Amino acid sequence: MIRPRQAIETLKKYRPPQEGRGGKMRLDFNENTVGCPPQVIRALRRALDPEMMTRYPEYDEGRQTLAAYFRVKPDEMLLANGTDDALKMVCDTFVDPGDTLLVPAPTFPVYEFFNNVAGGRILRIRYDEHFCLPADEFVATLKKEKVRWVALANPNNPTGTQIPKAALKAILLAAPDTVVLVDEAYQDFSGQTILPWIRKYPNLIVTRTFSKAFGLAALRMGCLFANPQLIDPLQRGQNPFAVNSLALMCACIAIRYDAQVRKYAETIRANRASFCRWLETHNIPYVPSSANFVLTRVGEHAPEIALKLRARKILVRDWSYDPHLKGYLRFTIGSRAQTSRLMSELHRLRKLIQTPDGTRAWKNMVSYNSTGWFS
Ligand SMILES: Cc1ncc(COP(=O)(O)O)c(C=O)c1O
Repeated sequence: MIRPRQAIETLKKYRPPQEGRGGKMRLDFNENTVGCPPQVIRALRRALDPEMMTRYPEYDEGRQTLAAYFRVKPDEMLLANGTDDALKMVCDTFVDPGDTLLVPAPTFPVYEFFNNVAGGRILRIRYDEHFCLPADEFVATLKKEKVRWVALANPNNPTGTQIPKAALKAILLAAPDTVVLVDEAYQDFSGQTILPWIRKYPNLIVTRTFSKAFGLAALRMGCLFANPQLIDPLQRGQNPFAVNSLALMCACIAIRYDAQVRKYAETIRANRASFCRWLETHNIPYVPSSANFVLTRVGEHAPEIALKLRARKILVRDWSYDPHLKGYLRFTIGSRAQTSRLMSELHRLRKLIQTPDGTRAWKNMVSYNSTGWFS
């Protein structure tokens, strides 16, 4: 038998999302729930012809267009096959077997996944009980331990919480020889970015994606930004044709309709606020979010609630497998109609929802109306 590398031999199989999600109300993976700008689909249809399909991708023009949009120079960015590919690139370039990744917990699991593939070690620091990042602990650990890279999602998934800029600055300064990756997948919803800091901190990498607010998750399109000294080795080790022509073309068209994406993000923020007000009214705890999802504590029946919602064609993410997030579900925020439907369905399941003081969630129900919308 031919044996793989040791890191692969001991790797747990990655569990991809359940299949058969099409046609359901997908509130489980924080995608755009209404669709990308329709002009992108029209342009894609027009572009599809045999000649273009036979050609290997060309990147220079698209890279320049996207660089201008993100206000960076072309040599400060790389195109990637989604953020996931950018994370793999970082591991391919910087992580030797035994090197350490420092991550908060809970967070997006793909940082650990590619670090494991590379044979790296993992150090985790838990978010505190208020879901704040313990930045002091990060700084102390970075000063004490030899850490190869740090991965911080900002806003974080699954908490939706924002890391204050002062904390990011302290972490970047504490470890000038450590790569600090700040994943801004949900930046369109939070409005906060440290992208311009790539000029100030040579150890900073920022990633962005077209999978969330832009609604292009199927195409796999992301960008990585850093100082040219970091970009150079990343580029040397990059899969030369990782990004396909159609993905790049669509991203370049999507940014022309940026105003539609901003509007979508604004709508999501408004719906998120309404959903959170509604949770408060019903005494259901949640983590205040800067992203397009809300981590919500529904109590010990969380898995059953998720299954019952699934049976009604509403997909949500059950985080209760994490020992620190028992009882938590994460709900992606969608359109007003989708959010309203979610609230109606939760209302139907109200007997399964537990509140912190043991009262029934709907005990003080006064403002609930039949559409499920809190007014
Ligand atoms: C924090 C974070 N980063 C990155 C991704 C994935 O991005 P992409 O689709 O660009 O690989 C996700 C997806 O859920 C995420 O939550």
